[in-house]
Amino acid sequence: MSENKNLNSVAALFDTPNKIINAAKKVKEAGYTKFDVNTPYPVHGMDKAMGLGQSKIGYVTLFFGFAGAIFIFLFMGWTMAINYPYIVGGKPLFPFQAFIPITFEVTVLCGSIATVVGMLAVFFNLPFLNHPIHDSNYIKEVSIDKFGVVIEAQDPIFERDKVTEFLKSLGGEKIEYINEPEKEEFKILQPKFILFLVVVAALTSFGTFITLNKLMYVVPFNWMDNQRKSNPQSETNFFYDGYAMRTPVVGTVAKEFMPYPYQGQAQPEVPLANPTLPTEQLLKMGQEKFLTFCSPCHGNYAQGVSRLKGQFPPGPTLHSAKIIGYSDGMIYNIITNGQNAMPSYAYQIPREQRWAIIDYIRVLQRAQNPNPSDFQAIKELNKESGKNAVN
Ligand code: HEC
Repeated sequence: MSENKNLNSVAALFDTPNKIINAAKKVKEAGYTKFDVNTPYPVHGMDKAMGLGQSKIGYVTLFFGFAGAIFIFLFMGWTMAINYPYIVGGKPLFPFQAFIPITFEVTVLCGSIATVVGMLAVFFNLPFLNHPIHDSNYIKEVSIDKFGVVIEAQDPIFERDKVTEFLKSLGGEKIEYINEPEKEEFKILQPKFILFLVVVAALTSFGTFITLNKLMYVVPFNWMDNQRKSNPQSETNFFYDGYAMRTPVVGTVAKEFMPYPYQGQAQPEVPLANPTLPTEQLLKMGQEKFLTFCSPCHGNYAQGVSRLKGQFPPGPTLHSAKIIGYSDGMIYNIITNGQNAMPSYAYQIPREQRWAIIDYIRVLQRAQNPNPSDFQAIKELNKESGKNAVN
């Protein structure tokens, strides 16, 4: 009895592939379910003889392959369309066509890794390396030139003597009783083992450090750091004026930029025409820019600022008959080139804003000198809004 308790399985050896196939069939027919066959090389038809179904590893592959595909597809979509929506090369934010190669690759990657890991861990029981038949004479024989069958003691209809007789009747030789190995426990946290790990880690790190940084040290790729070039704002003896930064050649024109044709001319003969339409939006912008750039010297309503106010240089009124008579282009020229004490505003105010300011100045002028039809228009506007702003 005590012998039976430790018994793991009964093994028998056969000489030829035909005999082992026959034995496997018979074992299966006798109703044993927990048995295995070991052969020195794959024997065709064995899975059928043993009555093995299809391997379940395919489901593992399928599941993880699909999971990987769905994950990476959504992940790419999330990064590109939600987390960091950024248009690249004018493509849509969810360019699914571009995801296809990576989705394919990740499907294959997840499927194959899951297959290998699943096979090793689930089917082969890794990381546990021992199996009772490892220490037997039986395994030595079947890994050279014999064919063997083992019937496990776990089998529901296992009876040691009956199994022995049965295997003998099939032509099995060298019947062997394989016992469970005695269990050895290995405590991972024992101090000796931890000390061992620490010493190995220290030696490896130190050895790697010495090797890579002292023995085999090579100057890393640093050509980008040591360029022969001048940095912005630095000096140089290369150019006669000592400046490393160069200004564009005189007459250089930026791409798609039309230089102002009357640069430096006080009263151009044919000034530019106003290209803008005074819409409400444009006038609002003109008002804002006028109040920013012009009002400090010319007053909030272009009425002019008196010298007594301490403003320097005090700007004259823009409601004079002279300015009302100026074309838009003339005023544009004054803003662009400046005039006497008034500096040029070409660098502060972009072109469109200059024209918008002029449109707004025209509105201010008209408000000071309305014609009768303007009153009519205001009356009608008031009727519409139900208010009476102008008496
Ligand atoms: C730093 C103060 C200052 C600012 C800001 C200023 N101007 Fe002037 N502006 C003057 C002075 C001073 C004159 C008179 C120049 C002269 O003596 O011819 C003048 C003249 C003018 C004239 C001609 C007036 C005339 O009677 O000949 C126009 C038009 C004009 N400014 C428009 C503008 C516009 C539009 C702006 C805003 C973009 C502006 N100015 C900003 C000081 C200023």
